[in-house]
Amino acid sequence: MLTRRELLLLGGLGALATVTGCVPFIGGNSADGAGASIPPGKFDGRALPIPPLLAPDANGRYVLRAQAGTTELVAGVLTATWGFNGAVLGPTIRALKGDRVRMRIENGISEETTVHWHGMELPAEMDGGPHQPISPGGSWEPEWTIDQPAATLWYHPHPHGSTAEHVYKGLAGLFIVEDPDTEDGLPSEYGVDDIPVILQDRTISTDGSLSWNSEPHVGLIGATMIVNGAHAPTFTAARPLIRLRILAATNARKFNLAFSDDRPFHVIANDAGLLQSPVEVPYVSISPGERVEILLAVRPRDAVVLETRSGTFDIDNGDHPLLQILGAAGLEPLHQVPQRLPGPAAVGVQPGATRRTFELSGTDEINGREMSPTRIDTVVPRGAKEIWQVENRSPYAHNFHIHGCSFKVLEYDGAAPPPWMAGRKDTVFVPPRSGAILAVEFADYANEEHPYMYHCHILRHEDKGMMGQFLVVDHDRVNDAPLLIESNEHTH
Ligand code: C2O
Ligand code: CU
Ligand code: CU
Repeated sequence: MLTRRELLLLGGLGALATVTGCVPFIGGNSADGAGASIPPGKFDGRALPIPPLLAPDANGRYVLRAQAGTTELVAGVLTATWGFNGAVLGPTIRALKGDRVRMRIENGISEETTVHWHGMELPAEMDGGPHQPISPGGSWEPEWTIDQPAATLWYHPHPHGSTAEHVYKGLAGLFIVEDPDTEDGLPSEYGVDDIPVILQDRTISTDGSLSWNSEPHVGLIGATMIVNGAHAPTFTAARPLIRLRILAATNARKFNLAFSDDRPFHVIANDAGLLQSPVEVPYVSISPGERVEILLAVRPRDAVVLETRSGTFDIDNGDHPLLQILGAAGLEPLHQVPQRLPGPAAVGVQPGATRRTFELSGTDEINGREMSPTRIDTVVPRGAKEIWQVENRSPYAHNFHIHGCSFKVLEYDGAAPPPWMAGRKDTVFVPPRSGAILAVEFADYANEEHPYMYHCHILRHEDKGMMGQFLVVDHDRVNDAPLLIESNEHTH
């Protein structure tokens, strides 16, 4: 009897298609998910869409307009979606460390929304969390100076209680921070050898509409894999070494990423920055909100598929092909993968550092309570380095994201983290009945009125209240900062 893994290796895509084709609905037993959904398709030459780079307008502002549209997530099937400056997803913003960036966000959809800069270290009033709502027809103009290492960040709505729906409908985009002072020798030609890979899953009804096959605990695990807004796309590499900036922009799904021929690849960056040297792996995992950058060597006439393989949790159930990568016929021989990377120093652990514990329970509570927009749960001194211990007491998989900081994972699931998780991060997976210990370095911006958030990035859990609020304040204000604030100031 062959193992599943051997079957996958022998059967390749055929086996995968059969497996997923038999189970078009995963956990689809809810009322609104009762209709038939579209079965997974094959790689048939549909080109991987590359989100355009956003150029500033005449006033030097990056303008993002949330709007409704229609998208062929699956070729030939029209789906009503939301996007920024287009029908689905949003353009990639690319800026340099040290830049002053000025944004204008316009809300052209029918509901209040926000835009949060996930992974950005910026003043709390610019963060775009639930306290910076934008009314339909309204706009918001945050600005800040980029002051953090080069990294692949992203932006997405964060309206109180509706984040899952707004992201599911298509609102998300990448924000690449580059550092002109650290020459990294890595592929950096956007769309040529520096490729955005935004991974999502959807359940699409046969009439083309997005369906919530509302899975009771996690909200949504889709049956149709979408990469940069397209199902089953192909990227043809014209360079022998490509860099993939991979984002899990899912509501709940965790990806266990490998290539169809099990070829090794190199992890070069975590969420919030480069590693200090590439780590060769056969496989890497990311949960909702996390990013990983990898280098992939491609040979002439190569054909390989990036796929996710079933894990042991409800949120990584199922084997699915994601993206086909072909090597152009005339590829030159591979130049070397760099030995060293100019990654930032790890977050250090200070003797006597404040240690806090965050217990995740059920699917909606941290430290025994649901998020309240008026309650401050934690007060942190500006620029502090602290130890945050995240404990998952529940039988469900969760993860943990902290705004306005980056952290080093000191301990993960009771052991040292794997070498590919050695870099700066802002989101970490927390398996059931397990935990993670983080050395966190907070940004150096104080504000006693606007909190940052920490939360599970499974969006159903976040919306249900598995979230807390913290203020970052001046050192002499830690004991006096307000623990009750006004919620939802409107910006018009
Ligand atoms: Cu990507 Cu508070 O979120
Ligand atoms: Cu965030
Ligand atoms: Cu969760």
